[in-house]
Amino acid sequence: MQDKNKKSVKDDSGIRRCECMRTIEWKDGVVVTIDQTKLPRELVFLKMEKCREVASAIANMKLRGAPLIGVAAAYGLALAAYHSKAEKREDLMREIEQSAEILRKTRPTAQNLFWAIDRIVRRAREAPGDAKAVAKVIVDEAHRMADEDVEINRKIGEHGSKLIDDGDVVLTHCNAGSLATVDYGTALGVIRAAWKQGKRIRVIATETRPKLQGARLTAYELKRDGIPVTLITDNMVGYVMSKQMVNKVVVGADRIVRDAVINKIGTYTIAVLSHEHGIPFYVAAPTSTMDLSHTSGEAVIEERHPEEVTHFRSQRIAPKGVEVMNPAFDVTPMEYVGAIITETGVLSPEKLR
Ligand code: MRU
Repeated sequence: MQDKNKKSVKDDSGIRRCECMRTIEWKDGVVVTIDQTKLPRELVFLKMEKCREVASAIANMKLRGAPLIGVAAAYGLALAAYHSKAEKREDLMREIEQSAEILRKTRPTAQNLFWAIDRIVRRAREAPGDAKAVAKVIVDEAHRMADEDVEINRKIGEHGSKLIDDGDVVLTHCNAGSLATVDYGTALGVIRAAWKQGKRIRVIATETRPKLQGARLTAYELKRDGIPVTLITDNMVGYVMSKQMVNKVVVGADRIVRDAVINKIGTYTIAVLSHEHGIPFYVAAPTSTMDLSHTSGEAVIEERHPEEVTHFRSQRIAPKGVEVMNPAFDVTPMEYVGAIITETGVLSPEKLR
């Protein structure tokens, strides 16, 4: 579904893109987001009026990236509250708790999902007044979380840009950009801020098998912003590092536990290679991604459908019946992490223990 009212332009490769939109918006009881599975070939807007549509968009990765998943879940609960027919406060609360349960089952690794759901449910429980008043509190809280996300990413960018020098080539993995957040991005927020300060940087983006967030989304965002980007396949990282083509690595995080960073599958390989080649490895993430009461052994790593590995654009590329592993994330021990860039500043990983 394309939104004809959205202001969009065609770029030089003929791609329609939007000049004005945050990745997720609320319009009179409808949540509008970009269907990221269609990018960069098409810019398609998804309009959702029901919480279970939001849950399905999260599970199917039409929207993805930990901070965006969190805000989307908040808006999912806002939809449930806004469209509820409940007259009694306790009936509304029951509906909200049921919607929260559906959302919690979508993507188990993204810490922001649970953080956002807990925040909305807590706020609703504490809110005074009848069902209507509570519904308004929920919608307002979701808006607040969306606005905060943009503000937080700008702060992450400001702090992180101090670690980036003029002339750096920065490698990033997956997509931790404006598409993974409400706007601006975490790892790409750092890159954007450094670029805006006039630092002549270049980016190497890994394609990020199997869902290709690097090739489809990071390359798209950086090209759109005019930031020089070179795309490589995941198995080229060792080569470019051994040839001294990379000075720094900045990635996002799905969950930061006491002893490790959990991020898109492939991050651990990049961290080990960075260590071997003496390349600083940084993680950019909001404090809402932190789960410091747990360690990596307790974290759930999402296992996704085998077809993501055996098929490419619905075409089978592997023999029928082959056994497949498809963990969506991996675990990078803190000893490989040079710094964690948050909205509160640049933290040394030892500080988290
Ligand atoms: O499976 P995805 O695309 O949701 O994974 C995204 C990542 O791994 C990102 O690095 C992380 O969520 C941070 S996004 C700011």
